[in-house]
Amino acid sequence: MTIKFDVERARAETRACENLIHFNNAGASLMPMPVADALHHYLQQEENIGGYETAEAEQTNINHFYDAAGQLLNCSADEIAFVENATRAWDMAFYAFKLMPGDKILTTLSEYGSNVIAYNQQVKRHGAELVFVPNDESGQIDTDALADLIDKRVKLISISHIPTGSGLVNPAGAVGRIAGDAGIPFILDACQSVGHIPLDVTKIGCDVLCGTGRKYLRGPRGTGFLYVRRGLIEKLEPPILDQHAATLLSPTEYIIRDDAKRFENWEQYFAGKAALGKAIDYALSWGIDEIKDRVYALATILRSRLAEIKGITIADQGVEKCGIVTFTTDRSTPGDIKKILKQKRINVSVSDGSGSLVSFSHRGLKSVVRASLHYYNTETEVDIFMETLEKTVGR
Ligand SMILES: Cc1ncc(COP(=O)(O)O)c(C=O)c1O
Repeated sequence: MTIKFDVERARAETRACENLIHFNNAGASLMPMPVADALHHYLQQEENIGGYETAEAEQTNINHFYDAAGQLLNCSADEIAFVENATRAWDMAFYAFKLMPGDKILTTLSEYGSNVIAYNQQVKRHGAELVFVPNDESGQIDTDALADLIDKRVKLISISHIPTGSGLVNPAGAVGRIAGDAGIPFILDACQSVGHIPLDVTKIGCDVLCGTGRKYLRGPRGTGFLYVRRGLIEKLEPPILDQHAATLLSPTEYIIRDDAKRFENWEQYFAGKAALGKAIDYALSWGIDEIKDRVYALATILRSRLAEIKGITIADQGVEKCGIVTFTTDRSTPGDIKKILKQKRINVSVSDGSGSLVSFSHRGLKSVVRASLHYYNTETEVDIFMETLEKTVGR
């Protein structure tokens, strides 16, 4: 299969491509030069002229982040908050929903571990109930079952779009339609999907969405963001406030700001914020549809190559499969495979533990190798990966 994409340029603009095969994009992608250079430049200025002085000089680049994120998600800039990661962004919105005894939260069996911890904490505190919607036969959220579970006790529908440890893409738009028809707020954890597949909050119908900078957007670590729909912002009181999120009017009175920045901190990773704006511009310059096509095509090639090897089981579920390829083998452990690949300068990760616990315990899995591809990866890299893997597990 030939994949049309200016891969040569993508690789020329990614310094590390010369030295390694990076199939850990679901962990953190390699930053492209324009993003890394913007970050370095910003940090150098902080060193040379001072942090506050740099923030003043870089106001335009810092604020550009909001416009870029708005363009990426098809929302307005004032519906975006900059937060240090996807989890904290998600928390700031999730913990703002008031739950009462008997209220229900509906989520998926492929939900991210940190989110499940937060659900359980709130459920315990407020006497609410957490319900895992069953999967359909493909392994994605069963939207018929979801629709059947809707009743007046359901106060929130909250799912991960792409789980951390699988190539599955949950049907977010279908979930959004069910939530919208029922008038139930819908939170979408788009941590693995942002920069990977197109996201339009209006089309999806989500009220809240969180994302991270370092994964498919190719931004710096320590960056993330939150989208909250305009009509919901002022109804959600953040669980934590500071003097950026609110203004102190007198020793006993304050007023919370009316835009999504109410979910932010005063002190921020400004270098990362400016660089994340650049990373979003960079992703948009390639086209998110084009990125998706390229990544999906490469992942399809990798899955079909893996399927040819005896003893390898591909673990990805769902109707639509993305750039994350997960597998197990009866001939080695995921940890050992990761180690051997690392010796050949091939990066993959292992998914195990809390992140995938709900899904894996449901499916009888302990851990999987996660090879997550991006558009700057190549078919030749897939060949090298397969040769190395075959030397370890045989054919
Ligand atoms: C589905 C999903 N949600 C949330 C997160 C957490 O993102 P962050 O580390 O930016 O908080 C991850 C990280 O892997 C993830 O895969």
